[in-house]
Amino acid sequence: MKKLMLLIALGFFSFSFKPTMGNKSSTDQEIESKVEQLLSKMTLAEKIGQLNQYTSRWEMTGPAPKGSSEQQMLEMIKKGQVGSMLNVTGAVAVRNAQKLAVENTRLHIPMIFGYDVIHGYRTMFPIPLAEAASWEPELARKSSSVAALEASASGLQWTFAPMVDIARDARWGRIMEGAGEDPYLGSQFAAARVKGFQGDDLSDIHTVAACVKHFAAYGFVESGRDYNTVDISESTLRNVVLPPFKAAVDAGAATVMNAFNEIGGTPSTANTHLQRDILKGEWGFDGFVVSDWNSIGELIVHGVAKDKTEAANLAIHAGSDMDMEGNCYITGLNELVQSGKVDEKLVDDAVRRILRIKYRLGLFDDPYKYCDEKREKESILTKENLAVAREAARRSIVLLKNENNLLPLKKDGQTIAIIGELAADKDVPLGSWRAKALTGSAVSMLEGMQAATGKSTVAYARGPKYVDGPSAFTAELSFNTTDRSGLDEAVALAKKSDVVVMALGENCFQTGEGRSQTDIKLKGLQQDLFDAVYAVNKNVVVVLMNGRPIDITEIAQKAPAIIEAWHLGSESGNGIADVLFGNYNPAGKLPISFPRAVGQVPIYYNHKNSGRPTNGEGNVFWSHYTDLSKEPLFPFGYGLSYTTFEYSNLKLSSGSITPGEKLQATVTVKNTGNLAGEEVVQLYIRDLAGSITRPVKELKGFRKIMLQPGESKEVTFTISDSDLAFYGADLKLKAEPGDFKLWIGTNSAEGLEGAFVLKQN
Ligand code: BGC
Repeated sequence: MKKLMLLIALGFFSFSFKPTMGNKSSTDQEIESKVEQLLSKMTLAEKIGQLNQYTSRWEMTGPAPKGSSEQQMLEMIKKGQVGSMLNVTGAVAVRNAQKLAVENTRLHIPMIFGYDVIHGYRTMFPIPLAEAASWEPELARKSSSVAALEASASGLQWTFAPMVDIARDARWGRIMEGAGEDPYLGSQFAAARVKGFQGDDLSDIHTVAACVKHFAAYGFVESGRDYNTVDISESTLRNVVLPPFKAAVDAGAATVMNAFNEIGGTPSTANTHLQRDILKGEWGFDGFVVSDWNSIGELIVHGVAKDKTEAANLAIHAGSDMDMEGNCYITGLNELVQSGKVDEKLVDDAVRRILRIKYRLGLFDDPYKYCDEKREKESILTKENLAVAREAARRSIVLLKNENNLLPLKKDGQTIAIIGELAADKDVPLGSWRAKALTGSAVSMLEGMQAATGKSTVAYARGPKYVDGPSAFTAELSFNTTDRSGLDEAVALAKKSDVVVMALGENCFQTGEGRSQTDIKLKGLQQDLFDAVYAVNKNVVVVLMNGRPIDITEIAQKAPAIIEAWHLGSESGNGIADVLFGNYNPAGKLPISFPRAVGQVPIYYNHKNSGRPTNGEGNVFWSHYTDLSKEPLFPFGYGLSYTTFEYSNLKLSSGSITPGEKLQATVTVKNTGNLAGEEVVQLYIRDLAGSITRPVKELKGFRKIMLQPGESKEVTFTISDSDLAFYGADLKLKAEPGDFKLWIGTNSAEGLEGAFVLKQN
């Protein structure tokens, strides 16, 4: 607000801009010719300005800007030296900043305003990892569209999402931002989120441009340490990392963000192979690539450029179009072009891409079209949006264990003790990367359970304090390991209750950017709390709240019931209560393997076989650990229901196919329990011998079905050679003839098995 007052005082708003109001969005051809016309009028300085992006100086999502003060930045906007801003939010603030560009610059080119709307703008949805546990891409489309609705009402036209990095390492804090470990599931969610954010028409004021990130392989940072080195093969890149990016681009993603990491010695930001050959070449991507926060400047720190000018040279050649907070293009590009080191055509290409998206958004028709304070007031945090958040919350929950049908709980006739600091926390469920969520605005588990039972006083004991001091996006957390006050009270309550519902897990800022951990066990005194409570009452339902797979091996051996409730957003507590009391029968499945110990990571179901996968000879010389099983605690795709399902009668329409033919694989699934429930039926395939080694299993399809008690349904998957294609020894995408196995089942470790042959034509 202070800054806006400053802008007003500086008299930036004297010129009145008359927008030409376009009724319908322009066709691609019209846009292309407008882009060319504008480009032909631009000076080199104006072009370079379009490639420059700054954060507002009053909200930051990265290290403090070194390049320019706020006042200098405002002057630069007026001179046309800034093409885009991030972290300016609110209809009024965006309008005011936009005016600086539109009303003062020679060509009146509007800026594009971006923000990290990762899992909601103010109404928070489950963190993306959690939402992937729904195995319902449609749900992600819906929540992304609501997030777009709120963000666009707040002046924004662009979100830095979806994050589609495949991640196999629970130590990496940013694992919460993606859809987990699987390229197939990840691709479905990537495409759904893009469609949700962008809708059918980018120029619609209720949608925002998506930005697929981080291109590429950021999830493969060595030892799970954020920003660290990546060294993966072209095969892993093509077969595992890139599919969700490709799916997002095919779904029409307007922009792509590159990544902080290097791959095999070349930082992504300077990677021509990734950005020019694959993205813009092979995939025909016609939007623009924005760098990550100062990732062009960090080329110097990586050690591939000696100064900003050299960094700019590398980045522009590699196809990085917009410089986020790096100050490199604005510093070095002019000299690079003048000296002939950079062909101006490269700059033109980058500008063309940025202008194209600005035109598609309709910013040239009306640069203020997203700045409507009335709409902003009316469409943010509405009842309807919260209803979507509640649906998303309960659909993201995974039932991990339920011995003796301890769940669902009874609302009456059972005394329930609610224990643990996280149970009453109204902030943690909002998760990391929480955009404009209001601090403490989530429905806590305690509140959700109170509302569900209609009892304003349910028995609650906090137990020992978890985090020392307030948690915050920018600070390191410290955990309480000494102050045991609260423990006795919790034990006493547990002792006199029939059932204990205990919330355990992570603070929201234990995950997210910069939050890698070497230890994924419960922190602070949480394990002690569990042990002490379990000693006096065995009927413990553990509700996990976390943003990464955590090591709960000890707890899983004891607690009779466990639900994985992640960080579920604004409606967290209501979603959890829906599941705990059986108003909703949980149907989520893990989008990521849960290790037994941190020493197992990276752990993922679609691994390679190795030459010695089993203990055939009965000696020590096989691929295993001598101190722990190599199997995960809970496999990918795992999740229970309050009812049970039986799989039978796997039928293949044929024992073989040739390219172009289709094979039907059908299975019967029966609800053998007493409650209606949904099941995610999963299809996995293995290619037994390839030109390169192939994963032991790969998810190739899934279907979520609803079954009444006693009801059976046939589920059919259609398989063709394109489903079997991969990048083999020659790095060409194709299916290789040979023998295949398939499984249809309830998770990646169980299923009915079949076999077929892919024959040559
Ligand atoms: C993150 C990006 C984010 C950007 C802008 C960076 O630090 O890596 O994911 O979009 O900041 O906030």
